[in-house]
Amino acid sequence: MNFKQDRLENEKNDPLESSSLRYINIPIVLIALFVGFGVTYLTLRTQDTSLGLGDSRTVPSSNAANNSDSTSETKDPNDFAVLMDKGKRVYTTTCQACHQATGAGVPNAFPPLAESEWVNGPPKQLVAIILHGLQGEIHVKGQKFQGIMPAFKGQLTSEDIAAVSTYVRNSFGNKMDLVPIEMVDQLKEETQSRTLLWNGETELKAQNWE
Ligand code: HEC
Repeated sequence: MNFKQDRLENEKNDPLESSSLRYINIPIVLIALFVGFGVTYLTLRTQDTSLGLGDSRTVPSSNAANNSDSTSETKDPNDFAVLMDKGKRVYTTTCQACHQATGAGVPNAFPPLAESEWVNGPPKQLVAIILHGLQGEIHVKGQKFQGIMPAFKGQLTSEDIAAVSTYVRNSFGNKMDLVPIEMVDQLKEETQSRTLLWNGETELKAQNWE
């Protein structure tokens, strides 16, 4: 056997080399899978036109996240702790000037929220007062009030109103259930055409808050 023949035979019989050819396909398959995944991912992502930002948050949700802390981003918006936390901030900036930090109000001017039968009554009634405001005669804990509370529907979001309602129903010694955001949305729709403040306890009592 001459040298050349010997080499050819060796190459032919080399089991390693012939079998190693099969492994060439592995990187190709991996690259194909990778590219395929990328194309599929991008297609699915770009089809969703409601996305305002690349990180999957919608514009309103990112705005809401900027106005609140990071916990409300990950938690259920109707989570009790999230509503209480937001509600406390809404109360401080929106209600406290009149109803006071203690919720005790000011005699003959601003009625108390602490142990108020209106705060601890039907949740929809409380939401209705915050949405549309109130004027005329109302009795709170046996005291008569006759002032004006402005409507907040143009100023607070449904989430703000659910949060502050939950907060006042669970502060100042009050202990009630949370008020879900959907309840505010529902009442907003039901009272959409309303432009007047509630006319005192007479009109509030005439409503069916179920
Ligand atoms: C500008 C002052 C003012 C602000 C701000 C205000 N209120 Fe009032 N609120 C009043 C007055 C005055 C009344 C009584 C109205 C009447 O006499 O008919 C009242 C009545 C109420 C009542 C029913 C009576 C009671 O004491 O339970 C509730 C509940 C209430 N307010 C909650 C709130 C909440 C929650 C906020 C914040 C989102 C708020 N108010 C902001 C002035 C205010």
